[in-house]
Amino acid sequence: METELFEITDENRDTGEAMSAIERAGQVLKGGGLVAFPTETVYGLGGDALNPMSARKIYAAKGRPSDNPLIVHICRWEDLGAIAADIPEDAEKLGQAFWPGPLTMILRKSEIVPKETTGGLPTVAVRMPNDRTALALIGAAGGYVAAPSANLSGRPSPTLAKHVMEDLGGRIEMILDGGPSCLGLESTIIDLTDERPTVLRPGCITGEMLEEVLGEVEIDRAVLSDESGITPKAPGMKYRHYAPKAKLVVIAGEEGAVERRIGELLEAAHREGHRSGVIATNATAALYHADSVKNAGNRTNAGEAAQALYRILREFDEEGVDVIYSEAFAEGGIGNAVMNRLLKAAGHRIEKV
Ligand code: TXA
Ligand code: MG
Repeated sequence: METELFEITDENRDTGEAMSAIERAGQVLKGGGLVAFPTETVYGLGGDALNPMSARKIYAAKGRPSDNPLIVHICRWEDLGAIAADIPEDAEKLGQAFWPGPLTMILRKSEIVPKETTGGLPTVAVRMPNDRTALALIGAAGGYVAAPSANLSGRPSPTLAKHVMEDLGGRIEMILDGGPSCLGLESTIIDLTDERPTVLRPGCITGEMLEEVLGEVEIDRAVLSDESGITPKAPGMKYRHYAPKAKLVVIAGEEGAVERRIGELLEAAHREGHRSGVIATNATAALYHADSVKNAGNRTNAGEAAQALYRILREFDEEGVDVIYSEAFAEGGIGNAVMNRLLKAAGHRIEKV
C-alpha cells in the first residue's frame, strides 16, 4: 500500500486543499482504514474506535500485542456519554480543567465500545487532544478515533511525521504531518474507576496539577519506581517500550559528579571500541568527548527534555551508537514523566554517583 503524506500548517490550514485532505482522511477512517495524525503529545495511529476490524488493523500495523488497550480520542465533551457507562464528577472536573489537553481518563465503558478497542477490559481510556488537525479529523471520522502512538511496538513514540513514515510507511493509508509534537511525551493517564483516582502514566499534566482539581491522587507504584518487576496497572506500561537499539545507562547524582562519571565511562567505552552517545544539557554538552552528544535543553526545565527525548533516541539509532549515557533529570513536575520514560528506555539501568 502506498502511504499518502499531507502536510498541514497554520498557513494552509484553512485552504480548500487542506480541508479536503482532512475530509478524505476522515472517510478513510470511516471505511475501516488507518490514518496517522499529529497531537500535542506524540503522533497517533488512528482507526475507527467503534469498529473491531479497525482495532485489529492497528495492532497488526504496529506489531502490538492485542491485550494492550487503545485510547479513544474525542473532539466534543457531549460525545463522552455514548462510550462511558457513567461520567463521575471527577471526570467532569478534570475535563473542565484539562480538555482539550494531554490527559487520558479511564472510565467504565458502554456497550458500544468493542472489546478489541479496550483489549478485553470493561473500561475505556478517553482523551480529547489539543491539536486543531486532530480535532478536525476526529470530527470528520464520526467522533471516535482509537489511537495508540504511531510507532512500531518497542520503538520510541514519534514526535515528527518522518518518524511515523519510517515505522509505518507502506502499512497505513495516510499520514497528516502537523510538524513537531509540542510536548513530546504521551498523555498523563488517570484511572477514575478505582476507589481513588490513580495516575497510571505520568505526563505533562502533573500530579500537582491533578491534586489541585481533585484533592489527593494516588500514583501507581510502578510509575516512579526505578526497580523493574512491579506490574503496572496500565497494560501497556509493562512492555519494554521506548527502547533505543543501544545500551542506555542513566547516571544520577550531584552536579559535577555526574559529569565526571560519564567522562570515565566514555573513556572506557572508547578503549573498548564502542560508538558512544551522551544525553546532556545546555550547561554540560560541551564537556563530553563522545561520538555523538545530544543536548536535551535546560537542566532545570524538564519540558525541554520531554520535547526532545524521543527524537534524540531515534537519532542515536540512526547514527549506529552502541552505548548511551544520559544525565538524570530532576524529578518533580514534568521531570517525573521524563525520568519514567528515560528509565524505561534504559531497561531501568541507573547508576547513582
Ligand atoms: O498522548 C497519548 O496518549 C498518545 C496520543 C496519540 O494520544 N497515545 C498513546 O497511546 O500514548 P498508547 O496506546 O501508546 O498508550 C496507551 C496506554 C497504554 O499503556 C495502555 O495500556 C493504556 O494506555 N490504557 C489504555 N486503555 C486502558 C484501560 N482501559 N485501562 C488501563 N490502561 C489503559
Ligand atoms: Mg505507545
